Amino acid sequence: MRKENQISQANNYIIENFSEHHLDDVMEIEVHANPTPWTKQTFEKILELRSQSFVIILNSQIVGFCIANKVLDECHLQNISVADTMRRQGIGNFMLDILKKRMNLAGITVVLLEVRKSNKVAQDFYRENGFQELSIRKDYYQTKNGREDAIIMRLKGP
Ligand SMILES: CC(C)(COP(=O)(O)OP(=O)(O)OC[C@H]1O[C@@H](n2cnc3c(N)ncnc32)[C@H](O)[C@@H]1OP(=O)(O)O)[C@@H](O)C(=O)NCCC(=O)NCCS
Repeated sequence: MRKENQISQANNYIIENFSEHHLDDVMEIEVHANPTPWTKQTFEKILELRSQSFVIILNSQIVGFCIANKVLDECHLQNISVADTMRRQGIGNFMLDILKKRMNLAGITVVLLEVRKSNKVAQDFYRENGFQELSIRKDYYQTKNGREDAIIMRLKGP
């Protein structure tokens, strides 16, 4: 279960809505976190949407980002990542807590996401935060050697 002190520890971080001036730092995290990283153009397209996306800043450095969109009455969590040197310190939990609060304010009660079948760390992280496995999307992801299934996970609100 989650450590009680993690949120107050993470409260030292600054939260900013994802903007153009964050792009380079977000890309730097992305290339180290994703086996097939999103391109800068993909992030730029996100900026054109009315998204719920934000970054977490510590000492003027972006240490994590969360890319999520409101689709009708659902939220699609498209990408979430913490700088590799900053992991396992509660920043991921903190970002999901922020997302849940934003979803509540927007009247959204369901968050959906896809995660690589091989990405057990992320699956543990999502389960720890109340997500449940919903289904499998066959060959959804590109890998270096071919394709990989996605697990679709869902979080239901209160
Ligand atoms: C998944 C990710 C965002 C988690 O961020 P984080 O800041 O390290 O997560 P937290 O410190 O808030 O951890 C919360 C809980 O998740 C689980 N968890 C996180 N990292 C874990 C690991 N390496 N092994 C097992 N469980 C882990 C634990 O239950 C942890 O709670 P605990 O530390 O009290 O045991 C981060 O590992 C990451 O950026 N990974 C690369 C990008 C990625 O895979 N994103 C998801 C794409 S679908």
